[in-house]
Amino acid sequence: MKLMFLAAVLTLQYCSGEEGYFWHITDLHWDFSYVTYGLSCWDKNTSVRGLCGSYFCDSPWVLIEEVIKEAQKIKPDVDFILWSGDTSPHVKPKYMDTELVIKQIRNITELLKGYFPNVTVYPTLGNHDYYPPNQFPPSNNKIYNATYSLWNSWINDESQEQTFLKGGYYTVKTKFGLRIIAVNTALYYYDLETKTLDDPADQFAWLDDQLSLATSRGEKVIITGHVPPGFSPLDGYRQMYPHFNKKFILTVLRYSDVIIALHFGHEHHDNFRLFLTSSGSAVIPLFLAPSITPKTFNRTDLPKPYHNPAIRLIKYDRQTKRQLDILQYYVDLPTANRDKHVNLTLGYIATELYGIPDVMPDALALLVNKFQDPTGVYFKQLIRWYNTNGVQNYPCNDKCHKNFLCAIRYLDDDRYSKCMSNI
Ligand SMILES: *[C@@H]1O[C@H](CO)[C@@H](O)[C@H](O)[C@H]1NC(C)=O
Ligand SMILES: *[C@@H]1O[C@H](CO)[C@@H](O)[C@H](O)[C@H]1NC(C)=O
Ligand SMILES: *[C@@H]1O[C@H](CO)[C@@H](O)[C@H](O)[C@H]1NC(C)=O
Ligand SMILES: *[C@@H]1O[C@H](CO)[C@@H](O)[C@H](O)[C@H]1NC(C)=O
Ligand SMILES: *[C@@H]1O[C@H](CO)[C@@H](O)[C@H](O)[C@H]1NC(C)=O
Ligand SMILES: *[C@@H]1O[C@H](CO)[C@@H](O)[C@H](O)[C@H]1NC(C)=O
Ligand SMILES: [Zn+2]
Ligand SMILES: [Zn+2]
Repeated sequence: MKLMFLAAVLTLQYCSGEEGYFWHITDLHWDFSYVTYGLSCWDKNTSVRGLCGSYFCDSPWVLIEEVIKEAQKIKPDVDFILWSGDTSPHVKPKYMDTELVIKQIRNITELLKGYFPNVTVYPTLGNHDYYPPNQFPPSNNKIYNATYSLWNSWINDESQEQTFLKGGYYTVKTKFGLRIIAVNTALYYYDLETKTLDDPADQFAWLDDQLSLATSRGEKVIITGHVPPGFSPLDGYRQMYPHFNKKFILTVLRYSDVIIALHFGHEHHDNFRLFLTSSGSAVIPLFLAPSITPKTFNRTDLPKPYHNPAIRLIKYDRQTKRQLDILQYYVDLPTANRDKHVNLTLGYIATELYGIPDVMPDALALLVNKFQDPTGVYFKQLIRWYNTNGVQNYPCNDKCHKNFLCAIRYLDDDRYSKCMSNI
């Protein structure tokens, strides 16, 4: 009897519950003109464009539909889906307008509802989900109204209408009790409408309140959004205005006990970053999922080879909400064009690729220490998958290595620039 009691206590304490999964899809950048004009190709040598996509163009419809369809075949019964924005293509503003932005988002919303009729999707807005791009106002507009009515059935909570219509942000709890905080960080990205403000659409005040409430309720939180804090590796590009970047980091760090992870998009590359306390311990990971669009900007400072379309599956513990693993799927574009068929290939399983027990901060911090060796196997893996192709021996010189390490470890200006100036 005593033994049984002890066993029960032990199980309760260490009980890792059932495993759950969620998909993260991001940066579709659907080129509605792909077949006819390829407006997103920017006159690159793309007169012959593959059926399933080109490395110099945004996504054709076929690619998007096939990726979602294949994902549904691989794992239909996920607990939810994160969809972190950027549905419009990289085309000259004269080819877009507000109605077209809405039309494209509506179409993709219907697509997801069609393939995943029983799964809740938690969408967020990207800088390309507005017209003109990047210029979200800090107040109600047609896009917030339209997306709210499209996504209302997923959000399924009228109490979120007010913040959504005001700033495109909301919070909900999943059926397994995980708190999702969905932020509109396009408000912090090269947006002339918000540049001089302290708190566009009062989102920071709200975020702080929600995290504080989650703390008092004993919840665990995932923050999802489009534009991430921190610096892009290699080119050192800070995605948010400096004062927003700072404020975002401070807010998140105040609640490191409740935040399990952040899942963002926007950079199109496969990468992650760590939030460190002032004493340097890693407390929260920020995961950047690679994009569905294969468009490569052909910049000489960015790593080659080219970027394959990608979608990821995250495995977590439904009870503790700990994140256990990432399964990264991708489309080998030349093969898909040759076979006229999109096949999602499992690129890697994070725990196997990196020899780590899970994708929580402690494991990732130890991994980043191993990245210090530029010739080591783990740093090479990171570089190989940065463009979602797993091709070996792509060059990353000392400068490139340093840039990656500084960007992974330091999200704030002070520590990042100090890291970059140390030879
Ligand atoms: C243009 O693309 C075609 C088809 O991919 C290729 O055969 C050709 O070599 C390319 N031309 C140049 C100048 O890159
Ligand atoms: C979405 O767009 C595709 C390609 O233009 C079209 O085939 C499909 O019918 C559209 N779906 C909806 C729901 O509008
Ligand atoms: C969705 O749920 C309905 C009702 O429970 C069920 O009949 C249907 O098979 C489910 N569809 C999928 C794709 O899981
Ligand atoms: C958005 O919808 C609200 C009511 O739901 C309305 O009051 C407001 O005028 C609408 N905004 C725009 C820009 O149409
Ligand atoms: C990519 O950029 C390089 C250097 O700027 C240029 O030589 C090359 O032609 C470009 N490739 C394409 C396909 O545009
Ligand atoms: C698709 O990829 C899987 C591996 O992920 C492979 O087993 C399968 O044979 C491929 N199918 C086709 C039609 O290429
Ligand atoms: Zn994007
Ligand atoms: Zn973006």
